[in-house]
Amino acid sequence: MRIEDIRTPSYLIDEGKLRHNLEILKSVEDRSGAHILLAQKAYSIYQTYPLIAGYLTGATASGIYEARLAHEEMMGIRDGLENHVFEPAFKDDEMAELCDICDHIVFNSMTQLEHHRSVWEPAAAAGSLNVALRINPEYRAEDSHEIYDPCAPGSRLGIRNADMPDELPEGVTGIHFHNLCEEGFEPLKATFQKVEKDFKRFFPGNGHGPAISWINLGGGHHITKEGYDIEGLVSLLSYIRDEYGIRVYLEPGEAIALDAGYLITTVMDIVRTDKYPVLILDASAACHMPDVLEMPYRPPLKGSGQPGEKPYTYRLSSRTCLAGDIIGDYSFDREIGIGDRLVFEDMAIYSMVKNNTFNGMALPSIMLLKEDGDASMIRSFGYEDFKCRL
Ligand SMILES: Cc1ncc(COP(=O)(O)O)c(C=O)c1O
Repeated sequence: MRIEDIRTPSYLIDEGKLRHNLEILKSVEDRSGAHILLAQKAYSIYQTYPLIAGYLTGATASGIYEARLAHEEMMGIRDGLENHVFEPAFKDDEMAELCDICDHIVFNSMTQLEHHRSVWEPAAAAGSLNVALRINPEYRAEDSHEIYDPCAPGSRLGIRNADMPDELPEGVTGIHFHNLCEEGFEPLKATFQKVEKDFKRFFPGNGHGPAISWINLGGGHHITKEGYDIEGLVSLLSYIRDEYGIRVYLEPGEAIALDAGYLITTVMDIVRTDKYPVLILDASAACHMPDVLEMPYRPPLKGSGQPGEKPYTYRLSSRTCLAGDIIGDYSFDREIGIGDRLVFEDMAIYSMVKNNTFNGMALPSIMLLKEDGDASMIRSFGYEDFKCRL
């Protein structure tokens, strides 16, 4: 199918751009010896997992459903892939399955670790499961947004140094931290240096007691964004490996599918207002790009400028009832008409995974733009998808 023939609203995943990102990430793995996992919370279009598994070490999950998805759709693709999971609290009736389908599990508190010990300990003793504690590095990047900052005051995410024991608890072999969001290399370096200093007692060479054999540096690394200091990253990862002889993991979500998807939408009406004319689109910020309202941010739109930059400025909004369902203000070289199609960019991440059907809005189809230029349908949705969730 040609892009012009796609029914809107529709997400279009760009296979070529996905591969481009994966090649960058694989080269980091190859050069540093570190292991990169797909954080499925950002992107979990499993139909592209065969491509992803060709480059990365595996996946990480935010709970049992994502863990199952990676188990079913990725782990069988080739030998050696890894399935990791972290959740602030695990349900009792999910722990046995998680220990079965995952090879790495990360607990958020000493209480959770001990509460589930009788279930995870046999798998850990048998060597099929690696157990870690998530620590709170208590390091905040300068430009962090509070909603995405696990080191903000009062955070429930990760154990602070003062609350960690003097020695690694029996059976624990790793530590995990995650404190970044869309960051360059310097905040990662600063975070690691703080962790290395504050949590030194758990690293190999500590001179007393058991030490970690792996560390997970979390996500939030904008590795595939132009200008990211990849040389710096490779040298930090190599330093950790050489200095301590431990396995090092990164679990980015955004970096994997950054700029690798679009949301194609049609202008349904144009409403005159006391400010800019408003384009009513068949896509919605609240339903189809919730981060626009949550973060908030103004998504890139193909061929557009800032308000006033080009001759025709409009406010882009949606056909839901929510007054604040506004995507942003954009300008264009030409007047926009009803029936025109607009293309939002960077729509593969934190979009499809967060969709909802508020107002009974239809979920956009999910399409794949293949490297030969052909677009094919991955999934389309209808009324039943709305109804079956209620
Ligand atoms: C524990 C953890 N790991 C990884 C990620 C992925 O982060 P990003 O998509 O910003 O790389 C997140 C995001 O919230 C996270 O909470």
